[in-house]
Amino acid sequence: MTADYASTVGTLRNAGCVFAEDEARLLIDAATSAEDLARLVQKRVSGEPLEQILGWAEFCGRRIVVEPGVFVPRRRTELLVHEAAALASTGAVVVDMCCGSGAVGAALLARLNGIDLHAADNDPAAVHCARRNIGARVYEGDLFDALPASLRGRVNILVANVPYVPSDAVATMPPEARTYEPRSALDGGADGLDIARRLVSGAREWLAPGASLLFETSKRQVATAVDIIAGHGFAPRVARSEELDATAVVATVLAPRLDQPSRLST
Ligand SMILES: C[S@@+](CC[C@H](N)C(=O)[O-])C[C@H]1O[C@@H](n2cnc3c(N)ncnc32)[C@H](O)[C@@H]1O
Repeated sequence: MTADYASTVGTLRNAGCVFAEDEARLLIDAATSAEDLARLVQKRVSGEPLEQILGWAEFCGRRIVVEPGVFVPRRRTELLVHEAAALASTGAVVVDMCCGSGAVGAALLARLNGIDLHAADNDPAAVHCARRNIGARVYEGDLFDALPASLRGRVNILVANVPYVPSDAVATMPPEARTYEPRSALDGGADGLDIARRLVSGAREWLAPGASLLFETSKRQVATAVDIIAGHGFAPRVARSEELDATAVVATVLAPRLDQPSRLST
């Protein structure tokens, strides 16, 4: 074991792993034999994300199942969970849109009593993985097309970690992400905000009165993200965590303007 540890740390360090000691411990714990350890270390040296090798990622203090080819939940996304949890009350209908592994939904389920959680993603691999983390109500399809019609007008919290890397910047991401995570989980179009735009423009008819919509973004994109939200009649607020280096936009549904005709008026 001691020899395994020292040589595993050395191999990982030579391959450029910054947290070689921590990773060595995790890989040794996960291995079932010396041959298995050699296989796991070789995967890591080839650049496969540690979480996909182990089959889990730590997120909000929980182990989230992560299957090969599924986006690895990032610590920074815990900000979305904190913000959504602060807004949700018992019985709230919560949708984790673009759910990937379902990390956000799983963390909310663990933290909140009695929420009615639903999740959706357009990638079958993500849907399969999310079902392992949060159960059956994970739907497959393009954004709102995936949701059952019964949720229309009833969603209290719509939380989404949409892809938001500008297309040109995907090539500059670490090889771990570029090679082992699907491009569709990363690429948010020319300015990174294409999916966020579609999310915001489609959200209204699904949200209940007083509902909240939250999505992650970057410091550089946040001003544009706020404009997108304000342009669709939501009241936006920026949430920021220096500790997690995370930025999110939190929006609430504004009441209809008095100068707009009411559906009840004759
Ligand atoms: C950045 S990952 C986030 C995954 C997860 N929410 C998390 O934080 O770990 C974005 C996810 O959005 C999904 N996605 C991309 N475009 C989508 C679309 N048009 N409709 C539904 N899901 C989409 C991808 O498959 C991917 O799982």
